[in-house]
Amino acid sequence: MGTKEPLSRILIFGANGHIGGPAAAAIRRDAPAVSLRLVTHQAASAETLRGKFPEAEVVVSNYLDLPGLIEAFDGVDGAFVVTPDFLDEETAMTNIVAAARHHNELRHLVRLVADPIGMTIERVPATLKTSFGGGTAVQHLRAKHILDRSGLPVTYINNAAYFMDNFLTWFADPIQRSRKLVVPRNRRMGFLDPTDTGECAAAILLSESAGHIGQIYHLDNGHDVMRFDEVAELASKTLGEKIEFDGTDEGFEQHCGDAVRAYYGRPDAVEYYLAYFQFDQDNETVWRKSDIVQFLIGRAAKTLERWFAENREAVLGLVPAGR
Ligand SMILES: NC(=O)c1ccc[n+]([C@@H]2O[C@H](COP(=O)([O-])OP(=O)(O)OC[C@H]3O[C@@H](n4cnc5c(N)ncnc54)[C@H](OP(=O)(O)O)[C@@H]3O)[C@@H](O)[C@H]2O)c1
Repeated sequence: MGTKEPLSRILIFGANGHIGGPAAAAIRRDAPAVSLRLVTHQAASAETLRGKFPEAEVVVSNYLDLPGLIEAFDGVDGAFVVTPDFLDEETAMTNIVAAARHHNELRHLVRLVADPIGMTIERVPATLKTSFGGGTAVQHLRAKHILDRSGLPVTYINNAAYFMDNFLTWFADPIQRSRKLVVPRNRRMGFLDPTDTGECAAAILLSESAGHIGQIYHLDNGHDVMRFDEVAELASKTLGEKIEFDGTDEGFEQHCGDAVRAYYGRPDAVEYYLAYFQFDQDNETVWRKSDIVQFLIGRAAKTLERWFAENREAVLGLVPAGR
């Protein structure tokens, strides 16, 4: 396996967020000589980002704006790309490829994807391909297709698990108001701390092994693959309060319907997510427990039990979530 000359200037998208932030912090901790250029696409967040990383360069750049991306890629030899749900990945990744090619200095790009292991675009149900212009069920597959064809030196990290901090966002309201975990289509799922995901991105970029380039790593925490009714039991035990499980579609409508429709600004948002959860259930057999995160970052990934214990008050709504 060949070696990769160490990177000297790394561009990190989403650096104000729960994955890009830990990636930037890990690079600062493990390779302080590496220059960081940190991106937010929200001008209003730039000051906060500067406050978190005073020694880094902070830029405002948007995946959908090519001239700004060309400026962002100027002089960088490494990059981490994480995208939000429902982004137009075809435009975004076409722009990323053009911006990187414009300078021709990029030697390693790590891209977060999020698909059931082995999923292909052909196997995604038609409704999920078209609703909302395509969402998380297809966007990463579309992005990967563009990056694969570009010839750029890419490593994919496939978050083969739900983010643990969904319990502070997506799942939070019914837990905090009614002590209920409301997740329709009960199914097996893996769970991973997004800090561990960010640390994996950093470790791959800082690695001097060229063997990472061209790989796709399916990230899991090596410990937690369980159904959501089992998650409710674990939460009850660890949080010290009974958390009931409600896996019905009616419960989802009752507890989350208005919030989901308001968040996405779409009257059909609940139907989209029920179809997405069904897709998750249809593919529940693929999640697994491996040593990949430990291999990449040199320490065991966080378990869901420990995460619940550390975030007990925020999960129960006793203090505001810190995300
Ligand atoms: N929820 C889960 O359990 C789960 C599990 C596995 C994988 N995933 C996937 O993980 C990915 C990340 O999810 P997330 O919840 O972390 O997403 P997110 O916070 O909504 O977005 C990720 C980052 O993208 C940046 N961003 C947003 N729009 C941008 C734009 N137009 N141009 C440049 N940067 C932009 C944001 O930073 P700024 O706003 O500061 O720019 C943000 O920090 C998603 O694709 C999701 O499908 C989610």
